Amino acid sequence: MIDRYREYLPVTERTPTISLGEGSTPLISCPRLSARVSRGCEVLVKYEGMNPTGSFKDRGMTLAVSKAAEQGAQALVCASTGNTSASAAAYAARAGIRCAVILPAGKIASGKLVQAYAYGAKVVAIEGNFDDALRVVRTLGERAGFAIVNSINPHRIAGQKTAAFEIVEELGEAPDVHLLPVGNAGNITAYWAGYQEFFRIGRATKHPVVIGFQAAGSAPIFRGQIVAQPETIASAIRIGNPASWESATQALRDSKGAIDIVTDEEILDAQQWLASHEGIFVEPASASSIAGLFKCIDPARKPAFGLSEIAEGSRIVCTVTGHGLKDPDAVRFYPASAIDPDEADVLRAIGF
Ligand code: F0G
Repeated sequence: MIDRYREYLPVTERTPTISLGEGSTPLISCPRLSARVSRGCEVLVKYEGMNPTGSFKDRGMTLAVSKAAEQGAQALVCASTGNTSASAAAYAARAGIRCAVILPAGKIASGKLVQAYAYGAKVVAIEGNFDDALRVVRTLGERAGFAIVNSINPHRIAGQKTAAFEIVEELGEAPDVHLLPVGNAGNITAYWAGYQEFFRIGRATKHPVVIGFQAAGSAPIFRGQIVAQPETIASAIRIGNPASWESATQALRDSKGAIDIVTDEEILDAQQWLASHEGIFVEPASASSIAGLFKCIDPARKPAFGLSEIAEGSRIVCTVTGHGLKDPDAVRFYPASAIDPDEADVLRAIGF
C-alpha cells in the first residue's frame, strides 16, 4: 500500500516499508443491494476484510509501524476492541519490534484474540472498556521507546485514507454517498481526508455525502454525550468516548452527511442478509453500514439521512471493515445432527 501511494504519504527513502501486501481490496458491485435501494442506484461494497489480518486496520498499521521503525521505537502499544491489536501484533512481528496490546477483558471476539497471541504480542486484559484501555495507553506512550499505534497516531489516519483513493481510482470519480461504521471515529476521519485530498488535486470533481453508523447502545456522537457503559453485540465499535470525535463531526458537517444508529438486531440481520444474498461475510460492526443503508431507504424508520434525498442513479459505497471469520460466535445457526451416509437420507436432509 505504501508503494502504491508513496507520493501521498509521509515517507522518505529512510522509511523502511513494513508491509504484508495490504490495501487494493475488492470494491464489489452488489446487484441485490442495488435492487433494494432501486431508483437506478448502484451499491458497491468495499470489502476491507480482505486485508492481510482481516480488517481495514492494516492500511494504517503499515504506515504507523514503518514510521515507528524509522524512529527507532523499541515497543508498540495499543488499546483495542480487537482488530487494531491483531493488526499491530502482525506488523510488529514483521518489523521485529515487541508489541503489547491492552484489551477490555472478555469483550474481544475470539478470532481477533487468537490473532494477537499467534502473532506473538503481549496481551494484557483490563477490567474496563476500550475507553479505559486507551486512557492507560496514552500515558504509556509518554515513556521512552514506546510508540502508540492507535488512530491517535496520525500515521494511522494517513494510511487509512488510501481506501478512499482506491475507490475514486476504481470508479473514476468519487461516489455520491459513502456509508461506514463508526467506533473510535478514526476511519470516517481518514476517508474524508482521502476524498478531500483527491478533490483538491483534481482526481475527483465532487465529494460524497458521508454517513456514519454507531450501534444504538454505544452511540456517543449520535447522542452528543459520552456513553459511560457502552454495550453492543458489535464489540469492535463498543466505544463510549471516541478519540476522533471532533474530526468525525467536522467530516459529517463538511460532507453534508449525518450520523445515525442501528440496533444490534438490525446489525445481525444485515450481517446475515449480506452473506446470504451477496456472498460477503463480515463481522457485526462492519454490517452496521449495511444495516444503516437499509435504514436510510426506509422513511418509516426516520433515518438521519434518507436516501430519497439523493438523485436517481447515484453510486453508493458501503465500507465493510472486517471479515466475518473474526467473530464466529456472533453468527446464529443451528447445526444439524449427523445422519447415515445414505443417498436417500442425505437427499431428504437437503430438502430441495
Ligand atoms: N469496524 C471494525 C471491524 C472495527 O474494528 C472498528 C474499530 C470500526 C469498525 C470502527 O472504526 O474506530 O475508526 O471508527 N476498531 C478499533 C479496534 C477500535 O481497536 O480494533 P473507527
